[in-house]
This record gives sequence, C-alpha cells and structure tokens, in this order.
Amino acid sequence: MARWIRWSLLAVACGAMGGCETVRDAASSVTSAVSSGWDSLWNSGSATAHADVKPTQGNSVSGKVEFRQSGSTVHVTVDLDGLAPNSEHGFHVHERGDCSAPDGMSAGGHFNPEGVAHGNSAHPPHHAGDLPNLKADAKGEVHTSFDTGALSVGSGSGDVDGHSVVVHRDADDYQSQPAGNSGPRLACGVIAQK
Ligand code: CU
Ligand code: ZN
Repeated sequence: MARWIRWSLLAVACGAMGGCETVRDAASSVTSAVSSGWDSLWNSGSATAHADVKPTQGNSVSGKVEFRQSGSTVHVTVDLDGLAPNSEHGFHVHERGDCSAPDGMSAGGHFNPEGVAHGNSAHPPHHAGDLPNLKADAKGEVHTSFDTGALSVGSGSGDVDGHSVVVHRDADDYQSQPAGNSGPRLACGVIAQK
C-alpha cells in the first residue's frame, strides 16, 4: 500500500476514534509482521549454495554443483565432465570445506550431523551427506538433479554451507562403513552460500 494512502487512512481512523497512538502502533506492527513473514518465506524459498568442483591430483573431473532450498527439501543440480564414459560414482557432502589436499582427503569424512551410519539416501538411516551415485553418460558427463530432505541451505543442522562435495572413483555400495567403499576422490569442491 502506498505510504500516503496508509497515512490518509490513519488520519481518518484517528479522527473517528480519537486514539491516534493506538491506531498507529497497530498499523506499524501489522506492517512489520507482514514484512518479516515475507522475508522468511523469501529466504526459505530461494537460499542457494554452490560448489566449483575441481579435479584432485592426476584426475580431470570438474564442474558445478548447486543446492537450492525449496520448502523443506533441497534441490541439488550437478553438472560435471571428465569422467569415464558410462561410469558410476559415489557422491557425497563431506564434513570439511577444505579441498586443499592433492588427494582430497582434507575434506574429511561424510557430513554426518545426526551421528548415524552410512547408508542409502533413499531411506534412513544414512549420513545427511549421502547422495545418490552419479552416472556419467557416453561422453563422460553428468547432468542431473534430485531432491533431498536431509540437507538445508542457510540454516539448520543439515546446512551445506562451509562443507564440501566429493566425487569418487567407484560407485557407493550404500552399505559398507563408513563411506560405501567408493574409492579414491576424483574431484572436490567447497560449498558456499550465495
Ligand atoms: Cu565421499
Ligand atoms: Zn556416508
């Protein structure tokens, strides 16, 4: 509502009711409740984080991963190249936002805020960071997206901000502890909220 209209209505209300302060207080608390409600809706609807994925030493996998909060789930979009044609790879959010080691081991273990066992993202229990295996196409590329309720962007215990994504050489068997026996780390990217 345009400001001048709001104040005109207040002036009318003041004249009619004789209690200007009360009306003004009520109007301003309604205004701030509406705007803070909008802010939280806006934030939960659009918070995004990105990782630039870079190859570990001796590998050539690179690309981007995006995490976008959408209601109570996070939409994950993955675009990678440099993989073996038609190969399958373990893919996780790891604990530390540190890809500095040549072999990517500085990223630590799987992101696991709940302190549970490694598993299949399709059904609990599993680490919050356990994600579906990535399948490369005939060109060795991955272009896929999926949703997860175990992660979040910008708030909550599952917040991906400051952690990392890791692509492994082998498929995750969704079973072996503590990391699904998915082999060495081909690529790593630190996740940062936009
Ligand atoms: Cu991993
Ligand atoms: Zn795991």
